[in-house]
Amino acid sequence: MDYLKLAKDYNTPFYIYDFDKIKERFIMLKDAFKARKSQIFYAVKANSNLSILKLLISLDSGFDCVSAGEIYRALKAGAKNYKIIFSGVGKSADELKYALDQNILYINLESQEEMLLLEQIAKENQKVARISIRVNPNVDAKTHPYISTGLHENKFGVDIESAKKMYIYAKNSQFLEPVGVHFHIGSQILDISSIHEASIIVAKLVKELLALKINIKFFDIGGGLGVCYKDEQEPNLYEFAQGILASLQGLDVCVGMEPGRFLVANAGEFVTKVLYEKFNDKKRFVVVDGAMNDLLRPSLYGAYHEIKLLNEDSEKSLCDIVGGICESGDFLAKDRMLGKTKAGDLVIVKSAGAYGFSMSSNYNSRNRVCELACENGKVKMIRKRESYEEQIALELECLKD
Ligand code: LLP
Repeated sequence: MDYLKLAKDYNTPFYIYDFDKIKERFIMLKDAFKARKSQIFYAVKANSNLSILKLLISLDSGFDCVSAGEIYRALKAGAKNYKIIFSGVGKSADELKYALDQNILYINLESQEEMLLLEQIAKENQKVARISIRVNPNVDAKTHPYISTGLHENKFGVDIESAKKMYIYAKNSQFLEPVGVHFHIGSQILDISSIHEASIIVAKLVKELLALKINIKFFDIGGGLGVCYKDEQEPNLYEFAQGILASLQGLDVCVGMEPGRFLVANAGEFVTKVLYEKFNDKKRFVVVDGAMNDLLRPSLYGAYHEIKLLNEDSEKSLCDIVGGICESGDFLAKDRMLGKTKAGDLVIVKSAGAYGFSMSSNYNSRNRVCELACENGKVKMIRKRESYEEQIALELECLKD
């Protein structure tokens, strides 16, 4: 990759995604489950760029959306409504109505209250809402507490007993049709035995439901597959699939998956440029033009991203790589060994394809960066760099009076 040319052509900072790698990861995961009916519903939140969604549509992906905005995006990218599911703990009435109007595959319910609201909306519109219930299996995913979701102490899903009652209610409702079951116990999971454990618990529920003549067609195991940021061992996909399939013996279900990070994290890089080097007392800082508003993960989770200095030729020493935002928590990396830099040198932040741009903001009124894609050796821009006019466009009207 000719980063210098890219920086010259598009300026910095920018994200760049390797579309061939995303394809490769998609096919790997799909293949692991080839012994069964399966459907990948890409978790749009990981990276919601329309071109990425379009790429995934060409591979027959479905989409896991967590807001009406994400459903809108998926549809705009060309997704079929029957390949879209809608999850999330706080869907509003408007969002539920929108999902019903779009006739998506099913809505993943996270509470009894939400079910009653959906039933009422379906009734008002004389529709039948296909539903799934997110079960919280009370399993520890052993990941960062902010991205762990499968314990009762987390806000997500409902416990098995409540789920069972909800299914019975839904079955008897004229306006609800239970079609799926769902769990998602956390993100960046490296020890897949926790997902297997959850799968066994939820498969048992599906068998009990079958005995009650509630026929579950989709067994959605969520996302969460961990990737390598530093030296982590990625889960073996074959073992992952085998464990899930073993828990489903005797059940005629389609396995749903909601990978986000697994498909895009390692396919993306964030490229930024050195502005200054400075020393405060003895501590060395490399100040770059990218910042926490562009890539929040290091600041928010203390997440590790590998840092590569392009054309590094001098002796390395310890430094923090920081942005220009007015917060001490604004860093891309801490305590890294890096050669001496000068203004204009390029720094590449690796594994930034997931939860990078999608979590970016305009904090400090900084323009959001542009996004590039590389496919078959060709680079194209898939989102323009924002302008100051675009940043204030929605407020301009208010200046008029
Ligand atoms: N399905 C549901 C219901 C989810 O809540 C999530 C992620 C996924 C699927 C996709 O999970 P993945 O395969 O990407 O692990 N911002 C954090 C990650 C938050 C994950 C939220 N839910 C980070 O940067 O690490």
